[in-house]
Amino acid sequence: MIVIHYQKGKALIESVALSDLAEQYGTPLFVYSADFLLGQCDRIKKAFSSHPTTICFAMKANSNEELLRQMVSQGLGMDVVSGGELKRALHVGTPAKKIVFSGVGKTASEIELGIGREIFSFNVESVAELDLIGEISKRLGKHVSVSLRINPNISVKTNPYIATGLYRTKFGFPENQIPDAVATLKKWPRLKLVGLSCHLGSQIRSTQVYQQATTRLLHIAEKLKASGFVLSHLDLGGGFGVAYKQEANPEIEAYAQSIQKALAKTPYQLMIEPGRWLVAECGILLSRVLFTKENPHKRFVIVDAAMTELIRPALYEAYHPIEPCLKRTGAKRVVDVVGPVCETADFLGLKRSMSPLQSGDLIWIGYAGAYGFSMASNYNLRPRPAEVLVQGAQGKLIRTRESL
Ligand SMILES: Cc1ncc(COP(=O)(O)O)c(C=O)c1O
Repeated sequence: MIVIHYQKGKALIESVALSDLAEQYGTPLFVYSADFLLGQCDRIKKAFSSHPTTICFAMKANSNEELLRQMVSQGLGMDVVSGGELKRALHVGTPAKKIVFSGVGKTASEIELGIGREIFSFNVESVAELDLIGEISKRLGKHVSVSLRINPNISVKTNPYIATGLYRTKFGFPENQIPDAVATLKKWPRLKLVGLSCHLGSQIRSTQVYQQATTRLLHIAEKLKASGFVLSHLDLGGGFGVAYKQEANPEIEAYAQSIQKALAKTPYQLMIEPGRWLVAECGILLSRVLFTKENPHKRFVIVDAAMTELIRPALYEAYHPIEPCLKRTGAKRVVDVVGPVCETADFLGLKRSMSPLQSGDLIWIGYAGAYGFSMASNYNLRPRPAEVLVQGAQGKLIRTRESL
């Protein structure tokens, strides 16, 4: 919410009025604050400064090239999950040695690309994947660094769709399969085991589970050392929570402290893969009211943004704050804010108490910087929106709107 402030009843991002951006670039429109993003980069670097740490932004959260460039300029690396993301990471100037390739289903051509560009490491999730990387390393005559993604079977309180560190999910190696992974590694002399990784899920509000996961990885690393594998780093993934509802949530410094405390005095470097925490709050989705209507049960505000721009409410019943750009006086009313897409799930907010809205009014939807545009689609043949980056009094178009 901090990213938007009001002056004389008008919503501004940095010192630019959202109404001016809507006029110039149209709606729906993603708008980001450069100062806020740079502030997040600075804050997370400071939080993790007491232990050698590489911060790799999980590009799936937002893959806008300009935002990525800003993060690379702050020294961040990239966590990628596809050949497309890998190419983009390289394209925006990420040093290959700061790129990790995660994901449960990498294809041979994606692996070849990563090997060819000598990325830092592949986070490997199965014996079959290790074999494929091994075969490719042999064919190309190249040494390849790999890390084992561990499924620590740690339960976290979050939406089940974004919990990834449990055995019921498809991710990682369960601890009892590590001997199989070790036997496979021995078959492929060009594979070098450099680390362990895990990712517990997203929107994790406990610092304790990170400490638990760090301890678990340390324990496995020590066991591997006894079998002759000396690792350089442990990767704790992402998942740091964001307070979409202004609810209680640990500060990034608290997450950092719990991980760093567990790693203190160990020889292992730390890697983290934050996505949401870095970019969610710095972005909003700007939208215009098309119509209002009501039936015997409900009042609806139909806006020009939809699940095609921001799918999180439809997919996870996620909450995003919604506010009018111009605060009107008048009694608040309870409304459903919905989009034009032909799905009942196409809502941005349900049962919201809002000051009166009418056709043509502008609203902004907060915390839209993560998993907003990157999950946008052309469903219903809707063109994907434009993106604008604001710095001070300037707005800059960083992605043009798709046309029909
Ligand atoms: C392997 C991995 N790392 C990092 C992330 C980023 O998570 P978050 O955006 O919650 O920080 C994800 C998200 O799905 C992931 O799967």
